[in-house]
Amino acid sequence: MIECDEGTRTWVLRTAATSYALRLTDEDVPRHVYWGPALTLAQIAGLGTGSRPWWDGFNDPDEGLDELAADGGTRYWPPALQIRFTEHTRSVEWQYTGYTIDAPHLRLEFRDRHYPLRFTLHYRIARGTDVVERWLELGNDGDEVEVVRADSASWVLPRWPGYRLSHVTGRWAGECALRRDPLAHGETVAASRRGITSHHANPWVMLDDGTATERHGEVYGAALAWSGSWRITTTRASTGRVTVSGGFGQDGVSHRLGPGDRLTTPVFAGLYTRGGFGGASREWHRYVLGHVLPHPGETRPVLYNSWEATGFDVDVAGQSALAEQAAALGAELFVLDDGWFGERTGDHAGLGDWHVNRKRFPDGLGPLVDHVHRLGMKFGLWVEPEMVNPDSDLYRAHPDWVLHQPHRRRSELRNQLVLNFARPDVAAWAHEWLDTLVTEHRIDFLKWDMNRPFSEAGWPGEADPDRLWVEHTRAVYAVMDRLRAGHPALRIEACGGGGGRTDLGMLARADQVWPSDNTDALDRLDIHHGFGQVYPARTMSAWVTDVPGFGTRRSIPLRFRFHVAMSGVLGIGGDIGKWPEEDLAFAREQIALYRDIREVVQHGRLYRLRPADDGVTALQYVAADTARAVVFAYRPRGRFPAPEAPLRLDGLDPAAHYRDPDSGDEHSGAVLLSHGLPLRLPEGDYASTVVRLNRI
Ligand code: DGJ
Repeated sequence: MIECDEGTRTWVLRTAATSYALRLTDEDVPRHVYWGPALTLAQIAGLGTGSRPWWDGFNDPDEGLDELAADGGTRYWPPALQIRFTEHTRSVEWQYTGYTIDAPHLRLEFRDRHYPLRFTLHYRIARGTDVVERWLELGNDGDEVEVVRADSASWVLPRWPGYRLSHVTGRWAGECALRRDPLAHGETVAASRRGITSHHANPWVMLDDGTATERHGEVYGAALAWSGSWRITTTRASTGRVTVSGGFGQDGVSHRLGPGDRLTTPVFAGLYTRGGFGGASREWHRYVLGHVLPHPGETRPVLYNSWEATGFDVDVAGQSALAEQAAALGAELFVLDDGWFGERTGDHAGLGDWHVNRKRFPDGLGPLVDHVHRLGMKFGLWVEPEMVNPDSDLYRAHPDWVLHQPHRRRSELRNQLVLNFARPDVAAWAHEWLDTLVTEHRIDFLKWDMNRPFSEAGWPGEADPDRLWVEHTRAVYAVMDRLRAGHPALRIEACGGGGGRTDLGMLARADQVWPSDNTDALDRLDIHHGFGQVYPARTMSAWVTDVPGFGTRRSIPLRFRFHVAMSGVLGIGGDIGKWPEEDLAFAREQIALYRDIREVVQHGRLYRLRPADDGVTALQYVAADTARAVVFAYRPRGRFPAPEAPLRLDGLDPAAHYRDPDSGDEHSGAVLLSHGLPLRLPEGDYASTVVRLNRI
């Protein structure tokens, strides 16, 4: 519900359990009033925000309360909106022009007091959740202006005695490491300047007062729906005020808006909850399911991917044999990874030449696709449309298609360069070959990879080359959207050399993401922990691969590897042709088990029961109707025999009774919620268990 008190020019947005309010000052500046537990418009009307008598000549007492911290006047906050007009005027002066409520969407309209530049602040309640989506739109009716910074939103937090910041950091093969530290005084910036979301940080933050736990406490969060460069600045001022401002773009790259041009920023979604970090994650998941994913209700298939088994060494015979073995295990989707096209026999050549390598697949991909379909599986294919190896026919024909700058070398990473998708000819070329490929080969699933960040991001001959930073990402979105529209049954897995492209923008057109190239089950426990803070299990691909792991050289038992991968969207990535019969039998059993529990895992609510710090990591998924639950518990290091403490469960119906179909044990819901589930883990290292609980 959205209400407006026109007398005080106050707007209140009410989600299921929260309220968000803003008001215009006498000078038309949109100013934050309230964000927290539900309050009515009448209750909020009494909350003051106006200027107070002030004797300090160095501070504006209301600084940091703006809905979008625009540069200008006596505002010294990190600018969320910074424009260079003609005549070198830099500050923005808001002039309110009106509002519209088109529930659940509120638009507040402004223009600059002098220049013909229009601003629309968008607020939209994500129905059925406590998430509010915000973004900014600029429309220029005058001479060209330079938009130096255009954040989507600034979020203002309440005054608390302390603050703690949660976010994830990482690197390739080590994504999503959850950090939870006291918020530093000053400005804390999380960002990507790489042209992609990045492995190094992910565009979300959460804040609490330092006391929230998994089950309890107030948590605020903000997550950006963008897959290019981004920046989120959390400011803790010496006045005690804390804000979070975020949007696309990066320092030094501006947007030029000519007469008639518009700029729309991505959604920066905000969430307030009293349910602790667990409640925050479940609410983010609800949001992703209800408002982001293209097919949230669909159950993700068990996939087999040949990458770790065969690397670039792919051919029709080898892949057909793997497909038969995968089908026999119970896989439902077979994905042929890199190496099927051009001269792509390693990472040095062929990228960009998207025609089937006839030495490896003499009759094209058709026979393999048919074989996979006859085996009852869907067929998936790896592509990396935004990239090119310099050693390729594509690059020899179109050296100007890559990001490059005059007089500068073209830096290669993984022997490849980035195609400039902002060029309409490049995006059209990509859509055409992808469309043909999907049509001709009846491809059900694409793994869309992206294996390096931008460098020398120029566009010689283009009047405003900087626009490629935004338009590359928009063009990737557009190609994906168009492809999906043309092939409604097509499903996409987003991959950025692992987790380089995990974000809400990508999840609006991908069904799942590949969170990391690191498939070591122990490392994956941490990666999944960070991933699941915002993104739900049904988007998290997880494979069982061979040991010793390629990066860690750890040899983790197959049971533990399965149990970790089964907590997301299960896939198999090992060289199953070489697995002993005993392992194949175990794999068949585990895949059958996963197919039984996956409705709960993929569609249920996540409860993180125990962090790893007492030696046991445990999590639980509960079906929405609480009729079924699945508990996963892992103890990587054996300890001197001592009974494990019971595992206190969450989210169940206390009045119900639950039965474990494997042990036959029956439990009262109330007892599971208060005392806990007896935890039976095998002895030794890498002990794990999966417990099913079905309401009797
Ligand atoms: C990086 C991906 O993350 C891997 O899974 C694999 O697809 C390789 N690229 C292929 O080059």
